[in-house]
Amino acid sequence: MCEQVIPNPPNIIAIDGPAASGKSTIGNLIANRLDYICLDTGIMYRAVACKALREGIDVFDAEKISALSERIKIDIRHASEEDGRQFDVLIDGADHTWHIRSPEVNQVVSEVSVYPRVRGAMTELQREIAKNGHIVMIGRDIGTVVLPDADLKIYLEASVEVRAQRRYVEELGRGKKVCLVDIEESLRHRDEIDSGRSIAPLRAADDAVIVNSDDMTVYEVVEHVMRIIAQR
Ligand code: DC
Repeated sequence: MCEQVIPNPPNIIAIDGPAASGKSTIGNLIANRLDYICLDTGIMYRAVACKALREGIDVFDAEKISALSERIKIDIRHASEEDGRQFDVLIDGADHTWHIRSPEVNQVVSEVSVYPRVRGAMTELQREIAKNGHIVMIGRDIGTVVLPDADLKIYLEASVEVRAQRRYVEELGRGKKVCLVDIEESLRHRDEIDSGRSIAPLRAADDAVIVNSDDMTVYEVVEHVMRIIAQR
């Protein structure tokens, strides 16, 4: 692979898109190529959902979930173990890197993400992290709400069938017992909540470049996005 050095790449790059559209994989690879940091904001909402489950808080209790989101401490650090993780996720000091990816968290994370105070608390943290630039930030509302002035906005999409198939293969590769139909159903459920909520719904910003990865490999998507970056 010929890795071309791009003079003056966009300082802040937003990547939005539905669950399992490859945002995290693509975002991390792009950030590596540019020597930028990468923040997957889904981790933060997952951390709130994970902590709520662990504390036995009802995810439909808006007040308790909101209060939790305002006191939670989320640290994302370099991976301390070679077990397939991209980084460590610490919640109030404890390692929950894998818990935040569990089916239980998948099931409730979209519900937790709907509450205005939760979104407010996470948005504030995300803007603070983006302040120094040289960042690729991944989520659902980065280009529309969190960083509307981002220098480049990518909206990464893929059909639900393709996303489910990719997630299925990924989970099998991790040695998990999974069912393709359940994965697809869970993705449809999350898509519906993420796109249907009234605050910061999942949608492409008007000035986003839409990339459909249905027929592309990871390598092709990265090359495609790198060309878009080079043209800015
Ligand atoms: O990208 P992900 O699957 O890890 O995201 C988990 C959930 O977090 C997703 O269903 C919706 C929510 N989320 C959000 O509402 N806004 C973001 N910027 C990122 C994620």
